[in-house]
Order: sequence, then structure tokens, then C-alpha cells
Amino acid sequence: MRAENRHYRTIWPAEGAVAVEIIDQTRLPHEFATVRLENLHDAAIAIKNMLVRGAPLIGATAAYGIALAMSAEHSDAALEEACTTLAATRPTAINLRWALARMKALLLPLPPEHRAQAAWQEAAAICDEDVVINRAIGGHGLKLIRDKLEAKGDPVNILTHCNAGWLATVDWGTALAPIYAAFNAGIPVHVWVDETRPRNQGASLTAWELKQHGVPHTVIADNTGGHLMQHGMVDMVIVGTDRTTASGDVCNKIGTYLKALAAFDNQIPFYVALPGPTIDWTLDDGIRDIPIEQREAEEVTQIRGRTAEGEIISVTLTPHGSPAANYAFDVTPARLVTGLITERGVCSASREGLQALYPEQKR
Ligand code: MRU
Repeated sequence: MRAENRHYRTIWPAEGAVAVEIIDQTRLPHEFATVRLENLHDAAIAIKNMLVRGAPLIGATAAYGIALAMSAEHSDAALEEACTTLAATRPTAINLRWALARMKALLLPLPPEHRAQAAWQEAAAICDEDVVINRAIGGHGLKLIRDKLEAKGDPVNILTHCNAGWLATVDWGTALAPIYAAFNAGIPVHVWVDETRPRNQGASLTAWELKQHGVPHTVIADNTGGHLMQHGMVDMVIVGTDRTTASGDVCNKIGTYLKALAAFDNQIPFYVALPGPTIDWTLDDGIRDIPIEQREAEEVTQIRGRTAEGEIISVTLTPHGSPAANYAFDVTPARLVTGLITERGVCSASREGLQALYPEQKR
């Protein structure tokens, strides 16, 4: 997608396959800066500290982390150690484990001296596949938006939570891919952007990328969605996911569940856009079994922003000594989800729906 008037992906190999470059998402929307990852440690820190974030991009960065590790030392022990280090960075998005398992399955049987080159190629393949997948999600979601336009007239008002746009993937995004596809097709869309406390991925990242692309949008406080739905101001909700179980339970950024409840109560379609690698075929019950990341309390007690003078600062919101809890994700039960928008089409959030699209996963 376009940023700063040129085409970017969120991650790309530096010339000569010696390093990887990323967009530092902790500095958006106020500064656009790229960062060079030189080694395994840099890749792990970039994921942990959320310079890169979003399930598909975390997976792609982990794959390049393995390539960086193999360039330094290609033994079995080094591969094992790299997988362990990267797997420990963030617990919830399954794409991380998926990418590591794919890299390990490819690399371990190879003669060690061939591993580095194969790892760079495989990481690039994972990135290219992500772009193709997300473009297909956009095409399938576009039909849903077009149907809505025909049913109610324009504009189509879509609410989204967190950032599941191109910044969360290698390109296009998942939840925002249908919105970009609709906008590019000339369909009048307007996006309600949940700010998404505590880290404000909606206010700082989704708003930024929609603005870069010229898509009409309005940032709202997280608690606003229910009111808008009650007053007919939301036509559909589209969100992303960090892990969806084989039975269609959807784990996504904290607060997604409350939006799903409000949408259900107001008979508003609630769609989840996801690539195949975000499905955890080993799990059924998302509430019981998906590990929910808990992050530092400071993300809740403080907020970061730019002053009128242009300085980026953090300020404290809470009384000194008040404890804070920071659960990063929640689970929306399948019964509240109208449909899953995948690269293979739209299905019900159910075992039957998913298995019809991914028959090779039948247990
Ligand atoms: O904590 P984050 O910013 O990594 O969380 C991101 C989300 O919850 C996204 O909605 C999800 O990863 C889907 S991204 C296409």
C-alpha cells in the first residue's frame, strides 16, 4: 500500500539478504521511520516491543528472524534456539507458531550449510503468500460490502477494532482488505475506527493507513460503538483475529467481544477476516484454551502522544499506586460471528463451515 507517496510492504529483505527492514509502528502516526533488523535478537525485540505487530506480520517477522539466525550459525542447536527465542515473544497470535513450524520443517532436514539460503527464500515466500491471501480476502469481503450497498444505499458504514490493515500484515490487511477493495471499486464506504485502548492501534495505525489511502473514516472512543449501532449508524462490523479455533471461536484484540455482543443485540452483521494460517486446528474451545497475553500495566496507566510543540511524550492517567491489569486479547464465541471471510471464501463460524473451505484439515 502507499505510504509517504511510495509503495511499501511492512517488511522486506535489505539488499544482499544480510538484514531485514521494517516500518517502526511504535512511532506512527507521528513519524514514519524504517528500522533495520540485523540479527535474531533484533527480530525478537521488534516483535516483543511491537515495532511490528498484527498476527500475519508477526509470523512473517519470525520467519525472517530464523533467516537472520541461520545466516549467523546454521547448526541444529542454533535453529532450535532461534525457534524457542522467537516463540517466547508473544503468546496469542498463532501465525507466529505456524511460521516457526513451517521454517523448522523445511530447514531441519537440509544440510546445515544450505539452511541460510533456504530460510531467506522461505521467509520471502511466506510474505508473498500473505499478500496473495489478503488480496483474496479483500475480493470476498468486497461482495459483502457491495450487497450491503445494494440493500441500504450509500455510504456503507463499517466499524472496525484495533488494526487489521496492511500494517498488521505484509500488505493489504485482513479486515481492511475488503474496505480497500470496495473503496478502489468506487463504493462509498465510511469506517468507524475504534481507538483501541490501551495501545491505540485504531487511533494511531488504522486511522493513519486509511488516511494515507484516502478512505473516509472517523475515530471513536472504544465505548461508542454500541450507541452508533442502536442509532442505525453501523451497517457491518469487520475485525481481524489473532487465532481462530477449529470451531470458529475468534480471539482478537481486547474489546472485540463487547463489539460482537452489541452487534448481535442490534442484528448487525459481525464479520471476521482471516487468513488460513490464523486458524488453530488443534483447539476447539477458544475461551478455555487460547493463551491470552498480559502486558505491562504502564500501557494502561500511561498514554503517549504528541504535544502542540511536536514533542512525543508519555503522560500518566491514573493515581500514583493504582494497580492496572492489561489483558491484550479476548475471545468472541462463534455464535456471535456472522461469518468468516477467508482467502477461500466466506463461511459460517463453525467446524462445518471451516472444514468445507479447508477439507485438507479434516480430523
Ligand atoms: O497486539 P496487536 O496489535 O498485535 O494485535 C493485533 C490484532 O489484534 C489484530 O486485529 C489481529 O492481529 C489481526 S491482524 C490482520
